[in-house]
Amino acid sequence: MNDAFFSPSFGNRPSKLVGRDAILETMIQGLESRPGSRERATIVLGQRGSGKTVLLWELADRARDKGFVVASPTVVSEDMPDRIIEKIQDDGERYMKGKRGQLVGGTVGALGFSVGLQFSSEIQETKSFGYKLLKLSERLEEQNRGILILVDEVQANSPELKQVISAYLELVGEQRNAALVFAGLPAAVSHILNDRVLTFLNRAHKVTLEPLAIGDVDAFFSHAFKQSGVNIDAALRKTAAESTGGSPYLLQLVGHYIVEYADASGRVDEGVLQEALASAREQFEQDICETTLAALSDKDVAFLQAMSYDDESNIGDIAQRMGVGQDYAQKYRKRLIDGGIITAPRRGYVAFAVPYLAGYLRKR
Ligand SMILES: Nc1ncnc2c1ncn2[C@@H]1O[C@H](COP(=O)(O)OP(=O)(O)OP(=O)(O)O)[C@@H](O)[C@H]1O
Ligand SMILES: [Mg+2]
Repeated sequence: MNDAFFSPSFGNRPSKLVGRDAILETMIQGLESRPGSRERATIVLGQRGSGKTVLLWELADRARDKGFVVASPTVVSEDMPDRIIEKIQDDGERYMKGKRGQLVGGTVGALGFSVGLQFSSEIQETKSFGYKLLKLSERLEEQNRGILILVDEVQANSPELKQVISAYLELVGEQRNAALVFAGLPAAVSHILNDRVLTFLNRAHKVTLEPLAIGDVDAFFSHAFKQSGVNIDAALRKTAAESTGGSPYLLQLVGHYIVEYADASGRVDEGVLQEALASAREQFEQDICETTLAALSDKDVAFLQAMSYDDESNIGDIAQRMGVGQDYAQKYRKRLIDGGIITAPRRGYVAFAVPYLAGYLRKR
């Protein structure tokens, strides 16, 4: 079968971004709000595989269509500030052409640019990130272009992140046409929100990537299977959609294996479906469950183990199974909720937020 629709691999752009139109719409509106307004800074929170990275890439495209110069998603790292400058220069260069298509030169020294968005060597070597960003934004504003900076995999206590935020705040102070969007795991971001230097982030617009609606998943499956020549009953297709639990990554895996396992005529029966679901589940456990647990402490994992036999667990039962007091269990409960690994469906109870994690823990 021809699988042009599913790309079950991390960070791969999907053929269609399912179920995120409303979020993207709001974010674009934020970009178009008055410079300096709080809607211009957004934090995207989501579990592993919830689609943060691909959402940023989609936003980059849509923002470019709206005339923004975009520093495409940059992962927090030591050279992040330099990369952001380079990306803005690369993306913005096309707006710096004169009538005959040649790059517009600057009076060397006066503005600090040599040609287009390239800095003179003096500026390049001696000036800070914040200074360069401000100069770029001024120069681009002459061309009626705003700047959008996208930062992925935000981590607590990163000096480079603080550098980017401080520089952004200076741009805001100067009323420049700039916007900033971050993405990260809820746990990583919650640490940052508690950092006094970064209190600004508390006021930023927050977007949480919730599970996709099963109806949206099913509608996409219906379209993708038809186009790929896969022939599957609506009831089986619905089972497939439900099995994803709304996880975008599972959507890719389940869709991929169904297309792959369909017989030569494209037929998918109950048996084929079950095989596809099993393969998807195995891959998901490897990619998501394992990495999620690897990032946790032994005690966190013990808490999850204690939960893994119920659909919803009572916090008192968990404490008892762990052989610890309630206060102690509450501490881990809070950490795991902050981390987006569990949820609190009702008072005194917790449940898993990551599909298949309970089963995976029981198998260990
Ligand atoms: N809205 C969506 N519709 C369809 N597929 C999606 C959607 N969002 C994400 N995906 C798919 O899910 C997978 C994971 O997406 P992505 O890498 O963006 O997740 P992430 O949240 O950045 O994960 P991590 O925290 O590990 O960086 C990719 O294969 C991607 O194509
Ligand atoms: Mg990512």
